[in-house]
Amino acid sequence: MSIAPLISLKKMGDERGSLVSLEQNSNIPFDIKRIYYIFDTQSGLSRGFHAHYNLEQVAICMKGSVTFLIDDGTTKEQVTLSSPDVGLHIQGLKWREMHDFSEDCVLMVVASELYDESDYIRDYAEFIDVVERNA
Ligand code: TYD
Repeated sequence: MSIAPLISLKKMGDERGSLVSLEQNSNIPFDIKRIYYIFDTQSGLSRGFHAHYNLEQVAICMKGSVTFLIDDGTTKEQVTLSSPDVGLHIQGLKWREMHDFSEDCVLMVVASELYDESDYIRDYAEFIDVVERNA
């Protein structure tokens, strides 16, 4: 089983095009408190490099593509998002990095909590310590 499963977001398409609806506790498996999006990322730059103590997120690449590295301290997984009808579900203690943003990438993230800097673990060695303490 994947440490960050993909969620297939049902497309409600007709001859006019496609539509995806996100609903809390339905295709988004938590109460939605925050949505943010990342765009105009400089070519060759990576982002993320942190974990969270208490945050659940679904990342959806609305346009372009981006590659996530997800790491639970034991297993590392890489997944490329390139479709607005696929969500990457990240929950629990997971280190995440985002690489290879395409120039046109618009990455939207739906989150279960408001922004809280004290929820971040930005140091990898500290992340491994926390994982080991929680084992
Ligand atoms: P950061 O979490 O470092 O971005 P990334 O994980 O993509 O590398 O956030 C960048 C800046 O934006 C930082 O100063 C915190 C701020 N920020 C908010 O104010 N609210 C938010 O919801 C997020 C995600 C970041």
